[in-house]
Amino acid sequence: MTRREIVAGMDIGTSNVRIIVGEIVTDRAVNIVGVGTSPSEGIRKGVIVDLERTVESISKAAAEAERMVGSKISEVNVGIVGSNIGLVNNRGVVAVSRDDKEITEQDVERVLQAARVIALPQDREIIDVIPREFIVDGYDGIRDPVGMLGVRLEVEAMIITGSMTSLRNLMRCINVSGHEVNALILNALANGEVCLSRDEKELGSFLIDLGGGTTEVALYKDGALKDIAVLPVGGDHITNDMAVGMRTTFQLAEKVKTEYGSAVAGSVSNDREIEIEGISGKEKRMITARELSTFIEPRIQEIMQLCKNEMVKMGYSQMPPGGVVLTGGVSLMQGITELAESYFNSTVRIAQPNYLGVKSPIYSTAVGIIHYVIRHQGSGTQYRQQDGRAGFFGNLWKRIKTFLADIWD
Ligand SMILES: Nc1ncnc2c1ncn2[C@@H]1O[C@H](COP(=O)(O)OP(=O)(O)OP(=O)(O)O)[C@@H](O)[C@H]1O
Ligand SMILES: [Mg+2]
Repeated sequence: MTRREIVAGMDIGTSNVRIIVGEIVTDRAVNIVGVGTSPSEGIRKGVIVDLERTVESISKAAAEAERMVGSKISEVNVGIVGSNIGLVNNRGVVAVSRDDKEITEQDVERVLQAARVIALPQDREIIDVIPREFIVDGYDGIRDPVGMLGVRLEVEAMIITGSMTSLRNLMRCINVSGHEVNALILNALANGEVCLSRDEKELGSFLIDLGGGTTEVALYKDGALKDIAVLPVGGDHITNDMAVGMRTTFQLAEKVKTEYGSAVAGSVSNDREIEIEGISGKEKRMITARELSTFIEPRIQEIMQLCKNEMVKMGYSQMPPGGVVLTGGVSLMQGITELAESYFNSTVRIAQPNYLGVKSPIYSTAVGIIHYVIRHQGSGTQYRQQDGRAGFFGNLWKRIKTFLADIWD
């Protein structure tokens, strides 16, 4: 039997650790053959705060996926949250090296290296460089300059920087749980793979990942990821508000939120009554589904207002033509599309992966990681992280392969 070619995507979220395993069937088609989920312990707002508990969560999720796949998952591809990440635009310039002035892959490599030279805030390291466009002797908008003739090669690149401490802890947890990290992929890039159409990416759209502890706003335009903002609020805050307001436990609030909650309290029937147990387990009260949703609506509005503020900062007080796309667990909330439509004054849709077994917005990131890896592997655009600052980040970066994202295709 031939060896199966599998790719594992790992999404270490605030609410859940999810591992999805894809099997590459033909050229780029993939089958989902394994899914593992385990509640996240030890992660707050997308950042690891307790290593041991995080390792446990990862191990549990991995074991579940491995049982389905029937073999050990040795290598994983891991999503990273935008708050650990900074985006900086920079330009690199080099002289074309060959005498006949034909631009080679080495020149491209050199100009990308030149673009990496930026002043980094303390605790930040470069994890990826994404070329936006190449400029040959002043002619801009070039996507692939190899083979062209020119004297001067420039690149406009987006540099992705990462917070060393958080990423080092992330890597450690994965390694301790017995897995090697093949690639680190920005969650927003992974989400873009499954959630946005080519047109939406091209015309411009906002992709909002409504997670448990974070909300990530990603702007796509001209086929590429342009900007990200991460807000430290999410579905857990809705649950918290409900628990406090209804004087009950987080667990019960979470249960009734997902079962009966709505983002538009006014649209909920006032007849349906739900029994709520008090914290001590003794006192029981009845609450209507509408009343319950009055705790939800303002929190979701607040999250949307915070998203809107970020969108304005990114230069959009009006939504781009591609509109708004929602994903992440909170996008499962009833009524969220209509609330978002009126809030953003734009078309809004919910996006999820289109595979049996993982058809839910909670799986967008993990499935997107698989897509991203497959699309970039073997396409000639896979680059190993250059250990440009040896000793500074030690062996860690040597073991990370980064993907130079040709995200404009
Ligand atoms: N049916 C539902 N209705 C409303 N909210 C839901 C529903 N299902 C899940 N959620 C909420 O979605 C959140 C979890 O979403 P998700 O799994 O995308 O988060 P995560 O990726 O673990 O966290 P983060 O991205 O913030 O690190 C939780 O707050 C959960 O209550
Ligand atoms: Mg998430």
